[in-house]
Amino acid sequence: MQITLDGKVALVTGGGAGIGKAITEAFGGLGAKIAVAEIDPKKIDATRAALSAAGIDAIVIQADVQRTEDVEAVIAEIDRKFGRLDVLVNNVGHHLFSFKTLEAMEEAEMDALYNINLRQLFIVTKYALPLMKRGGHGGSIINVSSIEGFRGSSYNIAYTAFKHGVTGFTRGLAIELSDQNIRVNTIAPETTDSEQVPLAGFIKPQFKDIAARSIPLGRFGYPSDSAGAAVYLATDLSVWVTGTTIHVDGGGLAAGGMQRTPDGGWTVSPIVTDSAMGA
Ligand SMILES: NC(=O)c1ccc[n+]([C@@H]2O[C@H](COP(=O)([O-])OP(=O)(O)OC[C@H]3O[C@@H](n4cnc5c(N)ncnc54)[C@H](O)[C@@H]3O)[C@@H](O)[C@H]2O)c1
Repeated sequence: MQITLDGKVALVTGGGAGIGKAITEAFGGLGAKIAVAEIDPKKIDATRAALSAAGIDAIVIQADVQRTEDVEAVIAEIDRKFGRLDVLVNNVGHHLFSFKTLEAMEEAEMDALYNINLRQLFIVTKYALPLMKRGGHGGSIINVSSIEGFRGSSYNIAYTAFKHGVTGFTRGLAIELSDQNIRVNTIAPETTDSEQVPLAGFIKPQFKDIAARSIPLGRFGYPSDSAGAAVYLATDLSVWVTGTTIHVDGGGLAAGGMQRTPDGGWTVSPIVTDSAMGA
């Protein structure tokens, strides 16, 4: 089977950085024409230049995917330039640095987390669908969730709840669109080095090997890890796959509450060291 996106058009939201950027490069490298919807004006030119330097036929449109009029303009531009849409990657999402208890959260923060992590998926997908359906050649919708969409995560529960919502969106829509042969799936990454989660800033140097304690494959993610899953879901490799999730997490979800012991084994028991118990 040939792995190609030749002749296909893909829209990647938030394709100016991190996981979205890696997906645009991977898809473009397989022959897809790329549309990027990116909110940050500072990234527009750089993204355009990077895709052009890689020989990828692309349009980069400034848009806030939370705004219906921006989304409609993006879809109209894709129609004008490429005349079709085969793959939609709903990549935008953010924790908004809202790391606090539920009681400490303002209602405006809850709304903002809902808008950026769940509501905009409805908006983007609703306005993309007529163009995706028009050609009658099926398609693939890929929603970027998180490992937090599959486990409880305290002090971050609005992000956690709305990422759980992405699973319902994916499953329901997969059935709704099955007669059009438009497949709908989710990618759920564990902590991945990106602009939103820059590992160098998040993790103190003395804890740099901390990932190995909870992630069986022993490291945090790179954006290219998720791009690999997106390639699988966008191409014919996954023609019979819909309504499901690829966990791009080094085994983190499978490990659940297990942690690596100081001697290299795994345990579900609390790890207590001498220094932790010292007076
Ligand atoms: N990085 C991680 O550790 C991690 C882990 C799990 C899930 N995720 C999910 O992966 C996705 C991508 O995360 P990332 O870390 O690559 O993000 P990032 O912040 O590094 O990049 C996101 C891009 O989207 C753009 N963007 C933000 N809001 C936008 C909007 N309203 N409209 C258009 N563009 C917008 C940003 O300018 C940026 O270029 C998100 O859904 C996130 O929740 C990330």
